[in-house]
Amino acid sequence: MNSPKVLYVCSEVYPLLKTGGLADVSAGLPPALAAAGAEVRLLLPAFPSVVAGVTPDGAPLPVPAGDSAGLPLGLGPRPGTAQGPQPWLQRGRITAGGQAVWLLHAPGLYERPGNPYLDETGRPWPDAAEQFAWLGWAAALLGTGLDPSWRPDVVHGHDWHTGLAFAYLRQLGLGGAKKPATVFTIHNLAYQGVFPASVRERLGLPDALFHLHGIEYHGQISCMKAGLKYADAITTVSPTYAREITGHEQGCGLDGVLRQRHAVLHGILNGVDDAVWSPENDPLVQPGYDAEHLDGKAQAKARLQKQMKLKPLKSALLFCVVSRLTEQKGLHLLPGVVDELVRRGGQLVVLGTGDASIVAALQACAARHPGQVAVHIGYDEALSHAVIAGSDVILVPSRFEPCGLTQLYGLRYGTLPLVRAVGGLADTVTDCSLENLDDGSASGFVFRDLSEADLLSAVRRAFALHRRPADWRAVQRHAMGLRFDWARAAHDYLRVYGLAATHP
Ligand code: ADP
Ligand code: GLC
Repeated sequence: MNSPKVLYVCSEVYPLLKTGGLADVSAGLPPALAAAGAEVRLLLPAFPSVVAGVTPDGAPLPVPAGDSAGLPLGLGPRPGTAQGPQPWLQRGRITAGGQAVWLLHAPGLYERPGNPYLDETGRPWPDAAEQFAWLGWAAALLGTGLDPSWRPDVVHGHDWHTGLAFAYLRQLGLGGAKKPATVFTIHNLAYQGVFPASVRERLGLPDALFHLHGIEYHGQISCMKAGLKYADAITTVSPTYAREITGHEQGCGLDGVLRQRHAVLHGILNGVDDAVWSPENDPLVQPGYDAEHLDGKAQAKARLQKQMKLKPLKSALLFCVVSRLTEQKGLHLLPGVVDELVRRGGQLVVLGTGDASIVAALQACAARHPGQVAVHIGYDEALSHAVIAGSDVILVPSRFEPCGLTQLYGLRYGTLPLVRAVGGLADTVTDCSLENLDDGSASGFVFRDLSEADLLSAVRRAFALHRRPADWRAVQRHAMGLRFDWARAAHDYLRVYGLAATHP
């Protein structure tokens, strides 16, 4: 497909709003698609921090609810606001960088502080179905010509928040117009956006879609399933995860659907945004460094040890975690190996937020090992760069991992990843086995079983390699030279757009 117009629909984008890797992807992939010839516009809900980072440009565009616009279906007027203001789209550009966006304003739905998905108590917002139904509805209308001056060739939605777009698009009459090609990307199959069946009338989802082969999922509606069923093509963020999710163990109840759609399911690895994550010119890590000049890394380690109140030992093998502290990330295993890690002379820095039980167990480790283990609970972008640059090893022992970005950042920063062989981790890190050391392909430490014993054996391999400085350097140099760039991913997405356009 030559120079396609792409409507890129998502719920977060770095640096305006980020809860995880999805935001990094929404920042990194669109410019790479543009560099490869696409014309990309983002569509996002107008969450407060997003609005604050966008410069408006152009007149507002009302988003008609179905009935009032004479459309064949659609969301009814918002409950309680039948006479009040209806949603509207604001065209603009992200102030830093200039990416073109549409912001979806919907009175009462998005103007709230904090996390876009969870309230202060960590529970999903009670009106989440409506929040993201409107996002899907706006995407479907833009996809079918709501703005006649910019009609996309491709609607590309990300994760369950955008799944209903594909259901609406399936139902909208196009009046003979060409339908856009549709692509749905799974970043995490475990979060599915499942809501009671009773909301479907309000969301304008007709009974014709509510069945086993549609959006129905065990008597409820599933936004994820809507994307999987109705998009022309499906992608996920690594080839291994693309295989894993067609099986029972990682399929999260949707493996059957994915097996049916196997022919249109593609795994495309995420990339690293060099503008944000490169040790040569990272404003948050000064002085910078590269594979041949590691002074800056040694200084980053000394600074990190000081900042986190660790003993200032140059030779201590410093492990780190920068992560959501959840079972997905396998971090419930970590407290069980910390004593041994410290006994062997290692240190550990943890930066993260998440499950109370994992937080408490890690804090207990820090209390047992002052000067050797430091735990910072919170979300801190600047500290995440300092931690990744200043450490020797980054731990990502995930139970499942669609792609994972921090191991890629670790590779770039010469901080060797220690990962479990799942999903994107398996696709991006090569273990320091003797044969891999021998042929120069080793880039980190990989273990298989989700067990403390296996994690510990990988930790021991890290210590063993560290005692062989020449081998450590060789692996580090190789890791830092690997490139997982967005240009390659963009090329693959363009190919998938082309395939989607030929889907009947
Ligand atoms: P996921 O999206 O599943 O959480 P990824 O590895 O794809 O995992 O992306 C996580 C992103 O969030 C990375 O950019 C990582 O640096 C960042 N991150 C995670 N936890 C924190 C934290 N506590 N503070 C700052 N950044 C964090
Ligand atoms: C999800 C996944 C993570 C992936 C990220 C970006 O949050 O958990 O593995 O890297 O999306 O695609």
